[in-house]
Amino acid sequence: MAKLIAGVGTAHVPAIGAAVDHGKQNEAYWQPFFKGIEPAREWAKKAKPDVCIIIYNDHASAFSLETIATFAIGVAPEFEPADEGYGPRQVPKVKGNSEFAWHIAESLILDEFDMTICNEMSVDHGLTVPLSIMYDQPETWPCEVIPLCVNVIQYPQPTAKRCHDLGKALRRAIDSFDRDISVAVLGTGGMSHQLQGERAGLINKEFDTDFLDKLVSSPEELTKISHTEYLRESGSEGIELIMWLIMRGAMNEAVDEKYRFYHVPVSNTAYGLTILEDQE
Ligand code: DHB
Ligand code: FE
Repeated sequence: MAKLIAGVGTAHVPAIGAAVDHGKQNEAYWQPFFKGIEPAREWAKKAKPDVCIIIYNDHASAFSLETIATFAIGVAPEFEPADEGYGPRQVPKVKGNSEFAWHIAESLILDEFDMTICNEMSVDHGLTVPLSIMYDQPETWPCEVIPLCVNVIQYPQPTAKRCHDLGKALRRAIDSFDRDISVAVLGTGGMSHQLQGERAGLINKEFDTDFLDKLVSSPEELTKISHTEYLRESGSEGIELIMWLIMRGAMNEAVDEKYRFYHVPVSNTAYGLTILEDQE
């Protein structure tokens, strides 16, 4: 049977992808960041998940605002990196796993989560930057990927609780897939950031740290935070953090935090990363 081996939370700041693509890792600005993610890359090399389910949001790249899917899943055999206005990133094509993706779609929908099914979609920095964070710049990505897309950019977004519940359903879908594969779930986005307006550059370290702590010990508390509170405390784009709750919902109640890294600034945001494993 499929086995969930870990949950990873990571921000997906596009500047990180640009730093990798343009070889800036050793510049003074980037050095502490890339040193901080090194243990995560070591972890990924050892853990070698066969499939990564990447929870992310499309930033009006594959979907325009003409179609706003609350939750969408990519079932295609491959996904091209999206052109976000400056040409697609020169990274490998993302290989999917149609059989597993259709199983997850069926399981979630019959479990009353009405997913939008994408037979074709491109994937933007929300998905490719986490891959660069975990795997650097390989010739081909060492895992298959199932994109699970969440609307966090256009009101009304799903609630934090709905995201956590979707994670629990996602776990049921993983556990019921009859193939011996190892699976990691990545929740991406965040941490505190606001990209525009008077509060642009907002960083709330206290909120982020509390979020990381509670993600391990008491995720239910994070599901009680309203949209307004996420927006107020973590910035207009900090609401991306609700996607980490899908990852957390897929994990057991008791988890061990294998690694944590928090770093400011990355672009004008706070970067956070956590690796969680179910307790034995
Ligand atoms: C930026 C964009 C994002 O989607 C994000 O999550 C963080 C930062 C940016 O444009 O800097
Ligand atoms: Fe984003």
